[in-house]
Amino acid sequence: MERCGEGEDPVPAVAAPLSRAKEVLRVLSRMGLRDARHRPVKRGGLLYIPVTDRELAAEAGFETAVVCAERSLRGATFKGLLAERREVPPEVLARIPGSFDIVGDIALIELEPDVAERYGSAVAKAIMELHPRVRAVYARGPTVGVERVRVLRHIGGEERTVTVHREYGISICVDIAHAYYNPSLAEEHRRIAELVRNGDRVLDMFAGVGPFALHIAKLRSATVIAIDINPYAIACLRRSLELNRLRGDVHPLEGDSRLADSMLRRVFSHVIMNLPHSSLEFLPVALRLLEPGGALHIYLVAGSAEEARRLVETRAGAAGWELRVVEVRRVLQYAPRRWIYRVSTCTA
Ligand SMILES: C[S@@+](CC[C@H](N)C(=O)[O-])C[C@H]1O[C@@H](n2cnc3c(N)ncnc32)[C@H](O)[C@@H]1O
Repeated sequence: MERCGEGEDPVPAVAAPLSRAKEVLRVLSRMGLRDARHRPVKRGGLLYIPVTDRELAAEAGFETAVVCAERSLRGATFKGLLAERREVPPEVLARIPGSFDIVGDIALIELEPDVAERYGSAVAKAIMELHPRVRAVYARGPTVGVERVRVLRHIGGEERTVTVHREYGISICVDIAHAYYNPSLAEEHRRIAELVRNGDRVLDMFAGVGPFALHIAKLRSATVIAIDINPYAIACLRRSLELNRLRGDVHPLEGDSRLADSMLRRVFSHVIMNLPHSSLEFLPVALRLLEPGGALHIYLVAGSAEEARRLVETRAGAAGWELRVVEVRRVLQYAPRRWIYRVSTCTA
């Protein structure tokens, strides 16, 4: 038997004349003998159809042979691959999540430190095999610090943390090691952008790499001031501004939003506050920068929509403001029975 090439395995197969191939495929599928993990091989007027049991196929009257067949990964999962190869013991496999994020060409998977250390490279290899676009894989830990940056461990592929992610056709530069970015927020970025009108002035107080600002400027001829305390985030936003054709203007500003009302002279039609752990602390500054009738979109962690609304109303009331809540939306799960909510309000 010939030597199999990269991505191929030697497998038992039924040899069917091309003229009868469809019919034989149907019969083998009905008998439950098709090996769906390998592709049929066409050679010398015959189609070799991989089967799971050569003896059974022969008993059923088919001519059989062993051929080199290309692996077919359609429908396969990376955990399925790991299980099949017995590279990870079942009790460890049970601790590996079935899903992961892809940011640009980098995959991020939540792995416990001991699993990442011992089995990280097998996990990364399986992910890259199923997703050829992925060039680097990192195990991700919690987000930490003021900049809300992920603790990362490289487990496979290139050791690179800067990439370009696409959201709704927008190219967003992301440095996964040095700035916050969550691809699950794509719809939320879009929803906020849709609330903005041409000519509006928008302040994003915790812009990160600037996804809200980019979505808004893509959709509307609005002006966005995007502040972040993290220089890496602002550098990425500047890079994204070079990558996209936008209708609006985005002005990246590196600095502390606590001082926003002393830095900025104008008032805004929308203020976005996506810093769920401490956004309420910044509420008085945000309210001073909001024009009469302007909209505030504040993100915070709460156990229910009612709690989120109450927290915002109480804090605004203590600062002497009366707000009309126009929407409370659950955006992301944060912990068991804790979510990140967005409370959108209007000033009187
Ligand atoms: C949860 S991230 C939000 C990023 C972005 N809005 C998004 O949707 O991807 C919060 C951001 O706030 C920034 N930040 C934290 N404290 C800040 C402050 N006092 N002033 C300005 N930015 C701050 C962090 O660096 C981080 O990028």
